[in-house]
Amino acid sequence: MTVNVLITEHLSDAAAQWLADRATVQRCRQDEDGFADALAQAHGLIVRTYTQVNAALLDAAPSLQVVGRAGTGLDNIDLDACADRNITVVHTPDANRQAVVEYVLALMLHCTRPLLPMHDAVDVKAWGQLRTDAMAPWQLSELTLGILGCGRIGTRVAQVARAIGIETLCCDLVDLDLDQLHGARQVSMDTLLRDSDIISVHVDGRPENRNLLGESEFAAMKPEAILLNTSRGMVVDAAALATALHANTHMRAVLDVHDPEPIEAGHPLLGCPGALLLPHAASRTQAAQEAMSWVVRDVAAALNLPVD
Ligand code: MLT
Repeated sequence: MTVNVLITEHLSDAAAQWLADRATVQRCRQDEDGFADALAQAHGLIVRTYTQVNAALLDAAPSLQVVGRAGTGLDNIDLDACADRNITVVHTPDANRQAVVEYVLALMLHCTRPLLPMHDAVDVKAWGQLRTDAMAPWQLSELTLGILGCGRIGTRVAQVARAIGIETLCCDLVDLDLDQLHGARQVSMDTLLRDSDIISVHVDGRPENRNLLGESEFAAMKPEAILLNTSRGMVVDAAALATALHANTHMRAVLDVHDPEPIEAGHPLLGCPGALLLPHAASRTQAAQEAMSWVVRDVAAALNLPVD
């Protein structure tokens, strides 16, 4: 019997070829002609971030046995609807951890250390001005980092923070194992918001996390707080954040994720002072993209294809 696998978003060529050596692979985006026909024939479906695997999609895929998510979050997959239909779901929870953690470090440094490139020779006066402008008000080691959501990524951020000498607080739904926290202190959300200079968000995209950070949370933060969000856009109430940033010009927010993506005209944070909007790029390293793509192995295993 032919085994059909439909790939709807980017997957590395090597991983796609490996799968094509074992199954009939079709690549088609959800918004492209031919998607419905391919889905109707699919035994396996491989998605990344933007394909919504909901009950309606599953109803149009009567032969589907496995959904593979090349990435960490499963918020675009209706897990209950998959379970109801005996469809296995596999993903790559560790594949982009290092990439995201390095990105968070880059964002922290971006926010604290001005880099002033020189493209021409400069005179003594300009040289002096550049060195004045390059003065950082703080070293990271003078600041307190708050990690909101201390799972795989949050924990590794804590490890990196300890290596740099940053005092770190963390907050999670569950009691955390102190040995895993690399010196970070578990505190309540209120304490984390009140005491952190930099807040890095690493919660997942479960529906309860929608607008986890809103008006009262922004009001509770330090006036010069820096908010970093590399988790999911919907965790932050964008309108409330825009209001907070307009009211407090010392606060800053670096947002890699948005709701919706791509950002639409009229989004409240577009052009907002203190907001730096980035294109959901935290996991975009070649290594992480490649590692996420190898979800094909688990998809193949679920379809009883040879994996050696
Ligand atoms: C993830 O959940 O793993 C990331 O958001 C993946 C991505 O960047 O597409």
